Amino acid sequence: MKKIIIAIDGYSGCGKSTTAKAVARALGYTYLDSGAMYRAVTLYFLQHFINPDVPKDVKRGLQSLDISFHNDNSNGIQQVYLNGINVEEEIRGMQVSSKVSEISKLGEVRKAMVEKQRKLGKKKGIVMDGRDIGTVVFPEAELKVFMTADTTIRAERRQKELLEKGEMLSLNEVKENLERRDAIDTKREVSPLLKASDAIEMDTSYLDFEEQVSTIIELAKERM
Ligand code: C5P
Repeated sequence: MKKIIIAIDGYSGCGKSTTAKAVARALGYTYLDSGAMYRAVTLYFLQHFINPDVPKDVKRGLQSLDISFHNDNSNGIQQVYLNGINVEEEIRGMQVSSKVSEISKLGEVRKAMVEKQRKLGKKKGIVMDGRDIGTVVFPEAELKVFMTADTTIRAERRQKELLEKGEMLSLNEVKENLERRDAIDTKREVSPLLKASDAIEMDTSYLDFEEQVSTIIELAKERM
């Protein structure tokens, strides 16, 4: 069986990463969360007061940061490291979520991240989730899935996740963040969020999670 690339793109909070992780585990593939990379860049810019409107500061910032992924041995869960420090918790909070789309629309940032993502996926056998994986990072991916879901359902899921991490936000606050990110991600000039013409659309609003995962696994097997 040949190894393939599975690209899972879609709007914020559709359950892309949970799905992608489960698919990768079932197939023995590597999982890569491209959003975590943009989140780590955003955290670095916030920590170092980098102004996204000053190109030379953005360039210098990008040169000074190193993003890596490590598997936590106790539970096998992937953790994101920024310059050697585990930032998994910090990048998921609202502080980063409210700034990440502004940083992700910068051409220099995208160029650096896409290059890294392509390197990480070179050997195939990878499930990558994001916004531009099927359109820009791996337009040749053997399987492309584009996930959508009702906004209120997405906000409810996200609110629950944040609560589990100790951040209490109203449903409206969460919904506004999702909608704002979707708007910026969809309207940006460089690699906007859009469905690749050959992507399979999946509305996850009322789909059973197991069913969602097994559908993608079946589609993947047909392409191996
Ligand atoms: O996937 P997640 O919601 O963690 O992504 C955070 C943000 O990173 C998105 O809202 C988007 O602005 C940006 N992103 C992107 N391209 C990707 C993945 C994420 O622009 N491939």
